[in-house]
Amino acid sequence: MNDSVFREKLLLWYKKNARKLPWRRTRDPYKIWISEVMLQQTTVKAVIPYYQSWIKQFPDIHSVSRASSETVLKAWQGLGYYQRVRNIHKSARMICERYNGRIPADKEILRRLPGFGPYTTGAVLSMAFDQPEVIIDANIRRVLMRVLDITGYADSKHDPRILKVLKKILPLKASGCFNQALMELGAVICRSSCPLCLPCPVSRECRAYRKGTQEIIPQPKTKTLIRQHAVVALIKHRKKYFIQKRPSKGLLADLWEFPGGKIEPGETSRQALVREVREELKVEIEKARHMMNLTHYYTCYKVHLSVWLCSACPLPGEDRTHRWVRQKELSDYAMPSGSAKIVERIKVL
Ligand code: ADE
Repeated sequence: MNDSVFREKLLLWYKKNARKLPWRRTRDPYKIWISEVMLQQTTVKAVIPYYQSWIKQFPDIHSVSRASSETVLKAWQGLGYYQRVRNIHKSARMICERYNGRIPADKEILRRLPGFGPYTTGAVLSMAFDQPEVIIDANIRRVLMRVLDITGYADSKHDPRILKVLKKILPLKASGCFNQALMELGAVICRSSCPLCLPCPVSRECRAYRKGTQEIIPQPKTKTLIRQHAVVALIKHRKKYFIQKRPSKGLLADLWEFPGGKIEPGETSRQALVREVREELKVEIEKARHMMNLTHYYTCYKVHLSVWLCSACPLPGEDRTHRWVRQKELSDYAMPSGSAKIVERIKVL
């Protein structure tokens, strides 16, 4: 492959065709950092409204650092993979304390901050500080696998040839622009299914296109969804619902949810409801009426939720992690998407 031909064709195409995305209008390292973290595991379309409302709520790194964990979790609600926002919060506080709120333009320092893995670090350094840093995300990996005709699955342990070639073709100036151009090509032209090779600016440089293997590179992995069945207890008393906060460590840490849990094999959902509430809250279900079934997707799980409206005796009490909340105030709490969906449904009941 002729490196400079590839570079020039790609950059020219990007100049003419780049989508006007909100984070592309800025060189502010804070905004670029936030957008790049949001864009991991989430589509551009889903990120845009979150990015815009985040920047409105937290226009600079100091405002993130001053906010409580509850507030930042709430702003992230619905984006999933909450470890990302916990790391943003921790790093924002560290950057404000140690560097007066200025994101350091230094690879070694950045890499030691929570959440600054090779991708985020490279993205911030190249896009905000114009440093010649290579980055590899799913789009870039797919483009390079096709250009180099590397067969196999697209996994995070990428083939060493990808990094080697990227380092060779990365321009020393405007490398952030080059990185974004590669990602853009992957997103809109070199798509995982039905790649658009005819309008592709670098099809002549692409070995897979020449061989006709572009559709089978990378080899698709069939994602098996694990089905789960769970019950949810909407314990209601005098117009208030009972919610609890998940532990600060582990899955969906610090998010609020309705009590409930997995339905064990051989159990009916009513039995699971009674058992879960007894185990979690040490109270008995008094009356229970099945309200609705909901399905939601969570990483590799397809979860079927059986939701029950119920009363309990004695009434569970309040403390730091247990609260009685009016229906209108439920949406002030950061919740996992299953519970948040239920809140949306009970609003219209
Ligand atoms: N995915 C990751 N980073 C991106 C960016 N800056 N623009 C579009 N999609 C992206």
